[in-house]
Amino acid sequence: MRKRRLGSRGPELSVIGLGTWAIGGAGWQYSWGPQDDKDSIAAIHRALDLGITWIDTAAVYGLGHSEEVVGRAIAGRRSKILVATKCSRAWDPGSTAIVDRLSAHSVRKELEDSLRRLGTDYIDLYQIHWPRPEAAIEEGWGEIARAVTEGKVRFAGVSNFSVDNLRRIHAIHPVTSLQPPFNMLRRDAEKDLFPFCAQNGIGIVGYSPMQMGLLSGAFSRDRVARLDAEDNRRRNPYFTEPALSRNLALVDKLKPIARRNGRSMAELAIAWVLSKPEVTAAIVGGRRPDQVSETAPAADWVLSASEVAEIEALLAAREAMG
Ligand SMILES: NC(=O)c1ccc[n+]([C@@H]2O[C@H](COP(=O)([O-])OP(=O)(O)OC[C@H]3O[C@@H](n4cnc5c(N)ncnc54)[C@H](OP(=O)(O)O)[C@@H]3O)[C@@H](O)[C@H]2O)c1
Repeated sequence: MRKRRLGSRGPELSVIGLGTWAIGGAGWQYSWGPQDDKDSIAAIHRALDLGITWIDTAAVYGLGHSEEVVGRAIAGRRSKILVATKCSRAWDPGSTAIVDRLSAHSVRKELEDSLRRLGTDYIDLYQIHWPRPEAAIEEGWGEIARAVTEGKVRFAGVSNFSVDNLRRIHAIHPVTSLQPPFNMLRRDAEKDLFPFCAQNGIGIVGYSPMQMGLLSGAFSRDRVARLDAEDNRRRNPYFTEPALSRNLALVDKLKPIARRNGRSMAELAIAWVLSKPEVTAAIVGGRRPDQVSETAPAADWVLSASEVAEIEALLAAREAMG
């Protein structure tokens, strides 16, 4: 599997990282519905067996559950894997309400809780999940910088930050990486964030490369209607009309490009993300081993210039529809 360095300061990463939001399971605000932990662990093991070197999780995914499952899956192989997790979306004992916190005290508590759930004494990449409350980003970042000096965190990054947010914290401690949404339907990061990160040696790990599965080729209006009542995608604007029909029509037009290469639509969506030189890696979600087996080979699919141009024309036509 291809690898790239994470910006100018970070470690080498496989160009696909395994995303573990959905394996957080049921019973919280941003759930993807019920999930069998056995499938999750098998998916993680399949990813590692296929050459994926890193896993992205977050404290808030399943209110700690995703981190616990990752911890169980990597027990015994910790030193061979890079673990990325996130703080700032906190909750209190006995409550499922998610609260945005970036005080030094809260960041420290979240870090210690994540270390315990993951069964490790260091985090490879510790990220602020969202820049909220915005007034506290310097305080939260300062605490992460302290954890770096203590060796509890190897590299410090952020997610969902604007250029302005990045400037504010980069002056305090260098930012190793940014995790923005990036896929064929969500390209805002290209405008300001990609050039800023390139100029400042900040690596980019793009999330939701298949727009939460919508670009995997496995979706239809029927499948959306059958999503679990708890699955947060039911409320997602990309999965609701009028955008849903337009998005599915785009996927139908893209499928022949995948087919004539003997690849899946899921691979095409990921390969397109990886065709952007500013992107270090795509964080690809997977809930079962067969899904990981299908998406992992995208890491080695380099699209030709004419394929990229053909895709860009289809994306421009979709964009024009609003
Ligand atoms: N920092 C942030 O704010 C943030 C936000 C979003 C995501 N992320 C990170 O990025 C990761 C990836 O994003 P994501 O999970 O939103 O979306 P994604 O990678 O675009 O899609 C993942 C989902 O697509 C479906 N899928 C996977 N492989 C498939 C295949 N081969 N065929 C058909 N369907 C397949 C699975 O869901 P179903 O089987 O249920 O359809 C899977 O959970 C997350 O897990 C998380 O680690 C971070």
